[in-house]
Amino acid sequence: MNSNNKNKKHTPRVPKICFKHAQAVAIDRYCHRLTEKGGPHAPGSAIRAETYAYVIMEMLSKDQIRTLDQYAQGKLPALLFTGLKRDEQDIPPDTMPCIQQLDEHPACIKLAARNQLLLSLVRHAAFAYDIDNDGKTTRLVGNFRGGGATPLPLEPACENVGLSSHAGLSLGPHTEPPYYCSRTALENHSPAPCALILTARWNPRNEPTRIIPMKPVIDRLPGCCVVELTSKSFQYTRSDCFIEGTGEPDGCIPILQHDSAGTFSIRYNDYRFSTNDRSSPELQSALSLLRTDIHSAPKLEINIQPDNTLLINNTLTLHCRDTVSDNRRLLIRLFGYSSYAQPIILNNDPLIVKG
Ligand SMILES: [Fe+2]
Repeated sequence: MNSNNKNKKHTPRVPKICFKHAQAVAIDRYCHRLTEKGGPHAPGSAIRAETYAYVIMEMLSKDQIRTLDQYAQGKLPALLFTGLKRDEQDIPPDTMPCIQQLDEHPACIKLAARNQLLLSLVRHAAFAYDIDNDGKTTRLVGNFRGGGATPLPLEPACENVGLSSHAGLSLGPHTEPPYYCSRTALENHSPAPCALILTARWNPRNEPTRIIPMKPVIDRLPGCCVVELTSKSFQYTRSDCFIEGTGEPDGCIPILQHDSAGTFSIRYNDYRFSTNDRSSPELQSALSLLRTDIHSAPKLEINIQPDNTLLINNTLTLHCRDTVSDNRRLLIRLFGYSSYAQPIILNNDPLIVKG
């Protein structure tokens, strides 16, 4: 290797699955069928998505299957699906419709169904928490409450809109809550999502979603700092999107957890996690160093659009975004559990777990 190559700065990229035309057409056809049956929250949708995923797998190349397997085994921080079909007629309206209208719109249900099918390709099950999003599988991510760069038509001047995916405020680096535990239910709480999957119905100004793969960040931290981060010592505040009166923290948690396979899981939120006055100086400096390193880490920018979909490994990767600039930006999000997750199941079909 010559010295130029050796010194070249490594620019991380999101691993990709680029669908060929015939594959995208087949995916679109199956999503249409899932939509007709009511989408991801309809009983029977999970088994239908699994069946269609099995058929799609038969159409994929060895390279594509290898990449899907790597993701399914928890080895990739994220995966970008490209080459999907988009409805060219579905142009953004002048103003964002109300959330109830969007919830029932076939275009939103179809994109949610496609998210569920893509989750099935990596052997993840779409699910909902009982305490979040009214117990529904599909979350519409858009500025419905205000706080964006441009006020909503009826937005009050000083309303506290809360930091959630239904507001337009910028969101610092975080993993998705709940933050009680990572893979196995603990003290009557299900683990955090293993993955979130996002596509866009409209993103007219190409506003990016940013992700931060955490392995390089953790690898650079001093060992003593990593030890502090694995201690059950960090406090956090409840998520604004949880149903009123639910999701309160039970106590302090670790930010990092290692498992026997040599991998880690992280739970973190830049604007919710803290230490307290009684924390040791070592603990405080570990959180401070982590925060500094997260902010200086390379962020991968993804312009999510209707013809692509971003799958984020929620145990290895943080995500964040700037203040919403165009109030018509509408993302469609689902959570996924891998086969390793052990939640507390309240309802099997559709899958609803205790938060
Ligand atoms: Fe988020």
